[in-house]
Amino acid sequence: MAGKKNRNMKALVLSGGKGTRLRPITYTGAKQLVPIANRPILAYVLDNIAKAGIKDVGIIISPETGGEIKETIGDGSNMGLSITYLLQDAPRGLAHAVVVGREFLGDDPFVMYLGDNLIGCGIENFVETFESSDSDAVILLKPVDNPQSFGVAEVDKSGKITGLEEKPKNPKSNLALVGVYIFSSEIHRAISEISPSARGELEITDAIQRLIAVGKPVQSRIVDTWWLDTGKKDDLLAANTVVLDEWFKRKIEGDVDSASQITGRVTIEKGATVRNSVLRGPIAIGRGSIIEDSFIGPYTSIGQGSRVKKSIIEHSVILAGAEISHVDRLEDSLIGRGAKVIKCHHKHQALRLMIGDDSVVEV
Ligand code: G1P
Repeated sequence: MAGKKNRNMKALVLSGGKGTRLRPITYTGAKQLVPIANRPILAYVLDNIAKAGIKDVGIIISPETGGEIKETIGDGSNMGLSITYLLQDAPRGLAHAVVVGREFLGDDPFVMYLGDNLIGCGIENFVETFESSDSDAVILLKPVDNPQSFGVAEVDKSGKITGLEEKPKNPKSNLALVGVYIFSSEIHRAISEISPSARGELEITDAIQRLIAVGKPVQSRIVDTWWLDTGKKDDLLAANTVVLDEWFKRKIEGDVDSASQITGRVTIEKGATVRNSVLRGPIAIGRGSIIEDSFIGPYTSIGQGSRVKKSIIEHSVILAGAEISHVDRLEDSLIGRGAKVIKCHHKHQALRLMIGDDSVVEV
């Protein structure tokens, strides 16, 4: 590949789409902004890009959620990034997003990063693999139990990729394509040579398959840390658990009274208040929230400005401005922004809920 080393690596972050799998949470919000340990998924993606020394970032947004993404992420200057927003009019596929980014990308190599993917490691090594080889693409793979839900790679005995398929019914391996790819400008030609798939989208998997078919070098690396594609509720709870477990330290900046007990790695942001409660980490409590007469158990994130009263909550993600009151036990739950869960009768029961923004549930 000509002149690759002289070129400036960019990043294209895909944050379009409607996030249908997380409905009802994403009826009113972008899935890339759903917080993991009270930070939007997209913030972790941008951290990883910045850590790899990349500065020019194009973020693909959709008409439905683009405004909210711009407002939350801004121009990137606080992370040392220069962000350009690029509008994709409809979810026409990952390769179509590259077409939307064509002018921004020019002929520079780029990391394409799906804005709802979280990996437990940096991407520096993968960028290094790309830069030190003659490859036109480096793709990341991870063995999974449900390859049917992903792009799947077929690899020969020497580790060379021999074929790729998007969500195959009969997968030829258990190696899923992780949502982080590195491409040279050759990908643009490959994309111009493919047609929309059966689901009507221009698939990046087909474009990479095209590179392979015309003899362009494509390398793969296995991601040997965790990978979470946070499109669904259980994935999201799992991501919250891993991030709280591995990346969070004890940091108490809020106001905790002497009747409360805090154990383990608990983060309580400034302006949060804890009264007569037991908090057992790992937990993240957002700014301005109020916890009273409650027990908050491990692997729970409580978003900014939420209120928890006389309740027990464990292994749950509560988004900003929600209210949980008199609930005996709320577990494995995802509660939308500004939603209210209020118990009115005296029967004891454990609740497992996924409820959308601004809903009111009285049990
Ligand atoms: C996309 C890709 C798929 C990849 C997955 C990773 O699928 O098309 O090849 O394995 O991301 O998250 P989607 O999640 O858009 O269905």
